[in-house]
Amino acid sequence: MHKLQSLIDNNIKWAEGITKEDPDFFKRLSEAQSPEYLWIGCSDSRVPANEIVGLLPGEIFVHRNIANLVVHTDFNCMSVIEFSVKVLKVKHIIVCGHYGCGGVKASIDNTSHGLIDNWLYSIRNIYHRNKHRMDALQSEEERHNVLCELNVMQQVKNVAHSHVVQDAWAKGQDLTVHGWIYSLKDGLVNDLAIDIHSPEDLADEYRVLATMEDN
Ligand code: CO
Repeated sequence: MHKLQSLIDNNIKWAEGITKEDPDFFKRLSEAQSPEYLWIGCSDSRVPANEIVGLLPGEIFVHRNIANLVVHTDFNCMSVIEFSVKVLKVKHIIVCGHYGCGGVKASIDNTSHGLIDNWLYSIRNIYHRNKHRMDALQSEEERHNVLCELNVMQQVKNVAHSHVVQDAWAKGQDLTVHGWIYSLKDGLVNDLAIDIHSPEDLADEYRVLATMEDN
């Protein structure tokens, strides 16, 4: 228990610092939140959402899991997307992966890691769907970096294919899904420029034509 005292001390200093700058900060936030962004990122301790983009508490809604995956049968992630789109009405959903992702690496290394293998299985599929491109790359590092990018691209599509997002567009809600990748080496984000902001950006096969409420 004593081992955590330094964290509690940090917390006291942090709260005091913010209150000194803005005495009503916590009172205001305790009443409501209205973030404009949803961040879907990796759980990796080196990729902290708020710090990377310089946002304060209250400014970004965050969901993190290993390898920043958006799986339609994952109630956790899908509930976060639904709440942030329907209730908070965020304007931007950012899927942010990172180079050097251990989850992405583990998905293709042909060793058994336990339960996590099931979670990472879909990344292995991304690799094999792009095998020709992967084989043409010179080094293991390049292959890994490209797979990290391809993984973000797929997760952006997975967000956009969700019924929640398509329902929001059908109702005229302003909502864009973005794909970014973060470099652990320099702390910088690279925008993959694959924004999706309407059903027209989706392949026909993934468009939801009518919402449940319309039927
Ligand atoms: Co990672």
